[in-house]
Amino acid sequence: MSTTFQLDTSTSRANPTPAPMKRMTVPMIRARKQDGVTAEPIVMLTAYTARQAQLLDAHCDLLLVGDSLGQVIYGLPSTIPVTLEMMANHGAAVVRGSYHSVVIVDMPFGSYEQSPQQAFESAANLLKQSGAAGVKLEGGAAMAETVAFLTQRGIPVIGHVGLTPQAVNVLGGYMARGRSDAEAEMILGDARALDEAGAFAIVVEGVVEPIAIAATRAVACPTIGIGASAQCDGQVLVTDDMLGMFDRVPRFVKKYGDMAEQISDLAARYAAEVRERRFPGPEQTYQPK
Ligand code: KIV
Repeated sequence: MSTTFQLDTSTSRANPTPAPMKRMTVPMIRARKQDGVTAEPIVMLTAYTARQAQLLDAHCDLLLVGDSLGQVIYGLPSTIPVTLEMMANHGAAVVRGSYHSVVIVDMPFGSYEQSPQQAFESAANLLKQSGAAGVKLEGGAAMAETVAFLTQRGIPVIGHVGLTPQAVNVLGGYMARGRSDAEAEMILGDARALDEAGAFAIVVEGVVEPIAIAATRAVACPTIGIGASAQCDGQVLVTDDMLGMFDRVPRFVKKYGDMAEQISDLAARYAAEVRERRFPGPEQTYQPK
């Protein structure tokens, strides 16, 4: 699978070839945080398709092929049913559509928890099939051995602590974490364990702000917050959430637009023109020469 940005100029959907830009690397992301300080916050968004990647790429440091695609793209009730095949296919599309950001693919539920060996096999296949630079997996101290196993064998890993959506059946929902002392201690311990195991960054999701700040101070690698704190070393959002594709979004999402309404309005205009035989017009119709 090629990792270079390619456009098929023979199709009607070709876009202009973008100005050549060198792809960022995992060490460049890790080096953003030096001695506990991140001068330039890390920008990450989710991407699931080549076109989405093309549009987001120049603005981001990292593109995450999140297993949130289960809900966002496939209409599934949670991330639990997402498969390695889905992640590999969408990962390859995002790599094809990007040429600047580091592309990271989520390891889906059931593909890594059993043993470090299982995780290596799954992650290696994901990287081979997609061309992505690394993987993200959920879980803290319990996953530290796996994170060390992967990183020592050439697979960069982003950890994910706090609200971990793949554990929805254990957590009982998607509520913010870290409100009790015990939970707060656990989240801090998880972040430390992943950092020591070699994670090059850690997503901190859905935790009360003081814990997000404490975790950011406690680890050497960058933290990337989502529903956490502006004091994290970077931020991530699900792109479709911030574009306003959904009516209901978690409280921590800021909607930067209302794409759902725009798409619906445009579809309504198209439907009306078809029904009134105003589309296609002369400009969209071929005539004999
Ligand atoms: O799957 C996903 O999109 C994620 C982000 C929310 C961090 O894990």
